[in-house]
Amino acid sequence: MRPDRHEAIAKWERRWLAVTGLMSVLFVLLIAYALATRGSHVAQRHSLLSPSELATSDLFAEPGVRQVGPNEFEVSLVAQAFTFSPAEIVLPEGAAVTFYMTSRDVVHAYQLNNSNVNVELIPGEVSTFDFTFRRPGVYRATCNEYCGLGHHNMLGELRVVPAAQFAAAQAGPAEAPGAAVGEAVYAANCASCHQAGGEGVAGVFPPLARHAAEIYRLGGREYLAQAVLFGLQGPIRAEGADYDGVMPAWQQLSDEQIAGVLDHIVLLGVEDVPSFEPYEPAEIAALRQAPLTPDEVRAVREALDVE
Ligand code: CUA
Repeated sequence: MRPDRHEAIAKWERRWLAVTGLMSVLFVLLIAYALATRGSHVAQRHSLLSPSELATSDLFAEPGVRQVGPNEFEVSLVAQAFTFSPAEIVLPEGAAVTFYMTSRDVVHAYQLNNSNVNVELIPGEVSTFDFTFRRPGVYRATCNEYCGLGHHNMLGELRVVPAAQFAAAQAGPAEAPGAAVGEAVYAANCASCHQAGGEGVAGVFPPLARHAAEIYRLGGREYLAQAVLFGLQGPIRAEGADYDGVMPAWQQLSDEQIAGVLDHIVLLGVEDVPSFEPYEPAEIAALRQAPLTPDEVRAVREALDVE
């Protein structure tokens, strides 16, 4: 190459190096600025906690919002494919909130739109961070770690309401009647896979609308409860089609919640089911005492001759 050409190219290379060098410095300064003035920080590891210990842990046995001081709250949240529990969180504006989050199965994330909350939820580990919501509003939570077929349906909501409104809501009725419990449990935990109307997803998540009623008619009252309590795994046939997915176990739900959601599921898509009796929490408690593996649950289903 001619020496003058070489010199011209070298000059441009130096300019590009200077520009990219300046950009790196700018990025570091922006991060430092965000850390110093905007309250940005990396979520910390609070402790180690095996998923099998969630049910007996002080923080996660009953995930949700707890008031711990005059204007201080704690929120514990458990992620599992493909839900957050609780799926809905309501907090008062301006309160100091400490979050504790973990995962029951695989790596998920909790990202709140329109805020800088974005946390990895790692099985075996509890993540914690402090946050204060300064404006009322509805923040949508999404999982931003691909966690399986229902990942895109893994959604939650965090509502920040004016303090007065929050206090009024706390004073309101705490227990919803049975049917409302079942509907709420279904919306929060089941709808992301089986769909809101129970229509299912071809090949992976079998339909519940009409199908659960059919199973009930075939004598599957106990089986339906066992499938919810202990999960189900492996190839099955439903409504003449093949499905091969994974139904997680839902033992963390209370007996009342499981009884309520079973009532909701059996009646999905049908007017009524002859001889249907609402599920009793005591019945769920009794079944809980005789745990099955997901494979054993499948064997119970096979014995029912469901098509
Ligand atoms: Cu959980 Cu993606």
